[in-house]
Amino acid sequence: MLNFAIRVARDAGALLRDRLGTRIDIGHKGSINLVTDVDLASEKLIREAISTYYPRHEILAEEGGLTESASEYRWIVDPLDGTTNYAHGYPVFCVSIGLEHKGEIIIGVVYDPMRDEMFTAERGAGAALNNRPVRVSKTEDLMQSILSTGFPYDIKTSTLTNLNHWANFAMNAQALRRDGAAALDLCYVACGRFDGFWELNLSPWDTAAGALIVAEAGGRITDFAGGPFSNYKPEIVASNGLIHERMIEVLTMGAGG
Ligand code: IPD
Ligand code: CA
Ligand code: CA
Repeated sequence: MLNFAIRVARDAGALLRDRLGTRIDIGHKGSINLVTDVDLASEKLIREAISTYYPRHEILAEEGGLTESASEYRWIVDPLDGTTNYAHGYPVFCVSIGLEHKGEIIIGVVYDPMRDEMFTAERGAGAALNNRPVRVSKTEDLMQSILSTGFPYDIKTSTLTNLNHWANFAMNAQALRRDGAAALDLCYVACGRFDGFWELNLSPWDTAAGALIVAEAGGRITDFAGGPFSNYKPEIVASNGLIHERMIEVLTMGAGG
């Protein structure tokens, strides 16, 4: 099933790469939450492949939602993570495919077609980038760390803007990035390009594959209070483990910390 997921992610990624810079139709799911015809085409390709090879498995994918069945297996799919980047021609986006079995993610695949980078993990078997094992970074000091995050699509109407955490981390880390594709952010923690990542209001398809890839690369993943992480809960903190407690401290600081 890992090889199947890799093949499908590569095919969907090729579609994203080929259509980048061509005329795309852009629609709105919310005031700043975009969906393009390429998101839909990628999801169609992935759904058709899963339905052909594993017709009984459930599929939870961003654009079409849940296709329920009695199966113990559920594919959790983001057909294009980084849609806003994509719509602007900013070449940071990916395909994310996770496979859940009895409520536990057992396979994760994230493919960045612009760099031809395939991040993979199988529960208990480690994480890899283009077939080479990856590990999280060894940075111990938050002040020497590069961190990544994102902002929720309802930032203009919600009180949970993430701007308080952004300000607090800006004062307590070496550098912050907002790259616009949560699944890739997680993979960058897994391979040590980022030391940590936090975000609010993500959906299962953003984190299903990436969270397993981080865990299998030796990283730690919790909610903002240091409690257990779930793909179905809105908070995620992922790190190399060494800076995790400090990240939790910063996330519980008041404004101006
Ligand atoms: C979004 C990206 C972004 C994150 C958003 C996600 P999408 O996914 O991962 O980095 O900040 O919260 O919804 O909409 O491009 O698939
Ligand atoms: Ca996404
Ligand atoms: Ca998406």
